Amino acid sequence: MENTLAYIKKVIPADALHIGLFDPATSMSRTIVRICPDHWPKVPLSFPIPEAAVPRVAEEWRTDFSFGILNDAREEDPCIQELIRIFWPEEVSVLRTRLIMESRMIGMLLLAAEGCNRYDESHAELMGMLNEPFSIALTNALQYEEIVRLKEMLEEDNRYLHKELRHISGDRIIGADFGLKEVMQMVRQVAPLESPVLLLGETGTGKELLANALHTASPRNAGPFVKVNCGGLPEGLIDSELFGHEKGAFTGALALKRGRFERADGGTLFLDEVAELPLSAQVRLLRVLQNREIERVGGTETIAVNVRIISATHRNLEQMVKEGSFREDLWFRLNVFPIMIPPLRQRSQDIPALLEYLVARKCKEMKITRKVHIPAGTMEFLREHSWPGNIRELQNLVERGLIQSQAKGFHSGLLVLDMPRIPALTQTEKHLNTSDESFLSFDDAAGSHIRRALEKTHGKIMGEDGAAALLGLHPSTLRGKMRKLGISKKENP
Ligand SMILES: Nc1ncnc2c1ncn2[C@@H]1O[C@H](COP(=O)(O)OP(=O)(O)OP(=O)(O)O)[C@@H](O)[C@H]1O
Ligand SMILES: [Mg+2]
Repeated sequence: MENTLAYIKKVIPADALHIGLFDPATSMSRTIVRICPDHWPKVPLSFPIPEAAVPRVAEEWRTDFSFGILNDAREEDPCIQELIRIFWPEEVSVLRTRLIMESRMIGMLLLAAEGCNRYDESHAELMGMLNEPFSIALTNALQYEEIVRLKEMLEEDNRYLHKELRHISGDRIIGADFGLKEVMQMVRQVAPLESPVLLLGETGTGKELLANALHTASPRNAGPFVKVNCGGLPEGLIDSELFGHEKGAFTGALALKRGRFERADGGTLFLDEVAELPLSAQVRLLRVLQNREIERVGGTETIAVNVRIISATHRNLEQMVKEGSFREDLWFRLNVFPIMIPPLRQRSQDIPALLEYLVARKCKEMKITRKVHIPAGTMEFLREHSWPGNIRELQNLVERGLIQSQAKGFHSGLLVLDMPRIPALTQTEKHLNTSDESFLSFDDAAGSHIRRALEKTHGKIMGEDGAAALLGLHPSTLRGKMRKLGISKKENP
C-alpha cells in the first residue's frame, strides 16, 4: 500500500491513504490500512464512532454515492468535525471512495492531502479507476482474516473435543497405586520432558491408555495427540500416511493431504505397533526423527515439524534388532526411555478394582442401570487365570458376561463371568508355536509344559493318570509351581 500511495501521489494530491470499515451493528470503526505522515493523528485499530456522528456515518455507509469530497473541515457539522479530528490534521482535504464487491459495500477508501481545497471531481474520476483493484485487495485481506479466524476456532474446537472425549471415555488408570505403581512413577518422571518414550508390554496391557496419559500429563497437552497404527498400514501407503502427499503426487492423490506428522505438530505422535514397520519405512522414519522435518510425497519443500514421539510394541525389539528385522539406529532413537508394563497375571491384586471399573464402564455403555452382583468364587477363578490377552481379555469377558446376563433378564441378579470353552492360546504357547519370538524364560517354558500336561489329564493332578505323575512331580510340588506361575486347573476343562 505504501508503494501504491507513492504511485498515486504522482497523479493526485495525496499525503495519506486509509482503508477503513464501519460496522453498523456495533457502530465501531475499524482500520484495515493507514499510511500517513508521522505527525498525523494515530488512529486506533478499532474504536467506537462518537455517538453524535453515528447517524451520518451509518447513512453514508448505506447510501449509494460514488465519491465524496471534503475540502474544508470548518464547513462541516460540529459532530463531523469531531470525527474528522480523530483521523486528520486541522487543515486537510479528503477524497472518499466506496469499495464495493458484488454490489455489497465492503469498505471505504480515503485519500487525504494537507491543506484545504486540494480535491476536485477530476481526482475522484481518476480514483474511480482504481476502485476495482482496491476492492479485490480488501476482499482478499478480509477473507484471509476470516480463514485464520475459522482455523483458530477449529483448533480450539478440536482441543475442546479431545478433552471432552477423554472425559466421556472416562479412561481411568486402575492400579496406579498398586500393580502399576512403578509404571506410573516413570510416567510422571518422563511426561514433562521432550524425550521419546517406548511403551513395552503384552497385548492388552494398556499401552495406548498410558500413551494417552503421558500426553495428557505433558506440557503438550493442549496440542494434538495423533496415533498411527504402524501395523495396519499397507506398505505402499505408509509414506503418504505419515508424511502426507501433494495433490497429484500419484494416481488417486486427488487433493493435498497432510500426514500424521504434520497433524501432530505441537503435540504428541503415538507410533503404535512400531515393530511392524517394514525396514524401508524405518529408514525414512529415522531420517525424519533426526532432521525434525518432513517432505510430503511428491512435494519439494521441507516442512519443519515439532512432535514428541511415543512408540509402543508388544514385541521384543532388542531381539528384532539382533535378527536384523528392526534397525538398530531407529531402536536407539525410540528406546530413550522404555517403560515396561507388566502383564495382568503379575498384578492380580488389581483384578478386583479392574473388574469393578470395567463392569461399571460397560454397564454405562449398555445402559444397564440395575446393580450387578458378581457370584462368589469368581474372583479366585479370575486371579488364577493367566490372562494372555490381559486387560482387554478381562474387558471382553465382562462384556460377554453382561450380554449373557442381560439376555437371561438378570434372573439371578448376578453377573456370571465364564471363561471361554476353548482357552485362548497363551503368550507362551504362541511363543512355542511360532518360535519367531525371543527365547523363553524358564518359568514360561515350565508353565507351558505344565499346562499341556493338565490338558492331557483334563485337569487331574493326583493319581496315576494325573499331571503330577506325568511330569514326575509330587502333587503338592506341582500345585506349588502352578500357584507360583499363576496356572489354574480350570483353564483346562
Ligand atoms: N490400568 C488400566 N485401567 C483401566 N483400564 C485399562 C487399564 N489398562 C488397560 N485398560 C483398558 O484395556 C483396554 C486395552 O488397553 P490398550 O488398548 O491401551 O492396550 P494395548 O496395550 O494398547 O493393547 P494392544 O497391544 O492390543 O494394542 C482398553 O479399553 C483400556 O481402556
Ligand atoms: Mg494398542
